Amino acid sequence: MKRVLITSAIPYVAGVKHLGNLVGSMLPADIFARYCRSRGYDTLAICATDEHGAPVELAALEEGTPVADYAAKWHGVQKELGDRFGLDWDNFGRSSSPQNHELTLHFARALWKNGFLEIRVTKQAYSPTDKRFLPDRYVIGTCPHCGYDRARGDQCENCTRVLDPIDLINPRSAVSGAADIEIRDSTHLFLKQSQFADKLRVWIDSHKNDWPSLVTSIAYKWLDEGLQDRGITRDLAWGIPVPDDIADGQLKGKVFYVWFDAPIEYIAATKEWADKNNKGDAWKDWWYGDAAKDVTYWEFMGKDNVPFHTVGFPVTIMASGEPWKLVDRLKGFNWLNYDGGKFSTSGKRGIFMDAALDVAPADYWRYYLIANAPEGSDSNFTWEQFAGIINKDLADVLGNFVNRVTKFCVARFDGVVPGEGEYGEDEKALITELDRRFAQYAAFMEDAEFRKAMGEMRAIWVAGNEYMTRAAPWTHIKTDRARAAVGVRMGLNLIHQFAHLVWPVMPDFAKTIHECIQPVGYRGGVIPFPDGPMAEVLDELTPGQPIKAPEVLVAKITDEQIAEWKARFGGGGN
Ligand code: MF3
Ligand code: ZN
Repeated sequence: MKRVLITSAIPYVAGVKHLGNLVGSMLPADIFARYCRSRGYDTLAICATDEHGAPVELAALEEGTPVADYAAKWHGVQKELGDRFGLDWDNFGRSSSPQNHELTLHFARALWKNGFLEIRVTKQAYSPTDKRFLPDRYVIGTCPHCGYDRARGDQCENCTRVLDPIDLINPRSAVSGAADIEIRDSTHLFLKQSQFADKLRVWIDSHKNDWPSLVTSIAYKWLDEGLQDRGITRDLAWGIPVPDDIADGQLKGKVFYVWFDAPIEYIAATKEWADKNNKGDAWKDWWYGDAAKDVTYWEFMGKDNVPFHTVGFPVTIMASGEPWKLVDRLKGFNWLNYDGGKFSTSGKRGIFMDAALDVAPADYWRYYLIANAPEGSDSNFTWEQFAGIINKDLADVLGNFVNRVTKFCVARFDGVVPGEGEYGEDEKALITELDRRFAQYAAFMEDAEFRKAMGEMRAIWVAGNEYMTRAAPWTHIKTDRARAAVGVRMGLNLIHQFAHLVWPVMPDFAKTIHECIQPVGYRGGVIPFPDGPMAEVLDELTPGQPIKAPEVLVAKITDEQIAEWKARFGGGGN
């Protein structure tokens, strides 16, 4: 049996994620995982919240909440929103878990022992009032470029210029407001990434044909510019502390850099999964040595995360000298923009996961987002386009098909699958076309080519609709009941197979229509991919079996709603 391990980039714990975050990692990972489960592959889907780092510590400080409580609270919010979006992870872990502390130390000790960590002294802002070093973004002051008086030491939010804390005019501490900022020496650990340049290039070359060019071009750019060694510790209190046995206690009081421990959480979240489910060492069979050799490991992420997954994390694994799994298929995404500009968490611009569910069901968003996934280039959200796609694909094509066939069956065939008549030429032509299209759809999904797969899915609905228009049982019922029965029977079988087809993308919708036609027979919450040739699966329903017509399946989005949402969410141009 195929084994597929799937991780999506773990979202920062602070705040609710926007649809740009969702479409670049968590949603495609979920759709891919569900597709794999629908094929019966042994599938493990892992995500988590990314809980360490200066931004989280700072956000908790601003809120006046202890950072551990702050992280726990937002982890809960994100888990709940993920559930409401149908993100069906095997585990949604936390990078602050004991398992991640343990594994991060394991890797750090291996790197230290193997001689790939170096101690270096760096210059850093220090506040005697706060009695601590201040990370760049903890120093606030006036931007020397635009005069904005709350610029951070890493970047000015107002003019977006990248800064150094010493550039700021009237620098002060974000912790206490104290102005007594000094520059002092601070000792840190550096990972000697430069020594892995050749090995990385060979590895990336080997994936030239199975990673998107977006991903390989980013990876090569980093290699071509010359790999720099990378600081993997920070002067923060919140994080995974550097233990005394590394660098003889010289790093006392410091923690590992968030980008060091976050990807290790992919492995740790798998261990969390095993621990929660009493599966002992089963987590290792996904990640380590010979037991994991037959696993295909897929990673999903936005393009800003690609360097950390083509350089940072692989170097950690290579430098450990241990046989941990490297990613096999790295699926990177461009940006989804909001109405011509960027989604922005700090600027509260765009649509956030909680608000999205106020205006439309999760399945609408799942379908819209994946059908327009920013694969080849950035894509752009507009409310008109969203409404257009929902109204056309989901209401006019799919929803209408389900409605007219089931309603007609209820009205004219007592709501049971009619048994009269035989499939003829038209049905056989449809069966041939759908055999080809289902195979094509599956081939695209195997490669996580979502736009192409969704194009094929839509073509399947359209083929069903066109067949129904030709078969026109509503016309034939008056003169030839058997002929009308053939059309209805095929129509009901099509609806049944559509439920199987769309489940990875629209799980609630699939369940609703499946229950109308065939309320039994799918395993453990998974509606499997149609298994068998179309000639069989499209003749599967038993004559005489009762069916139901669903309530309104897809309500059309109105112009008034579009206007209301544009006003509520801002942007929306004209
Ligand atoms: N938290 C990061 C972000 O949202 C992603 C981390 S992915 C991992 O951009 F590799 F670190 F796990
Ligand atoms: Zn500025």
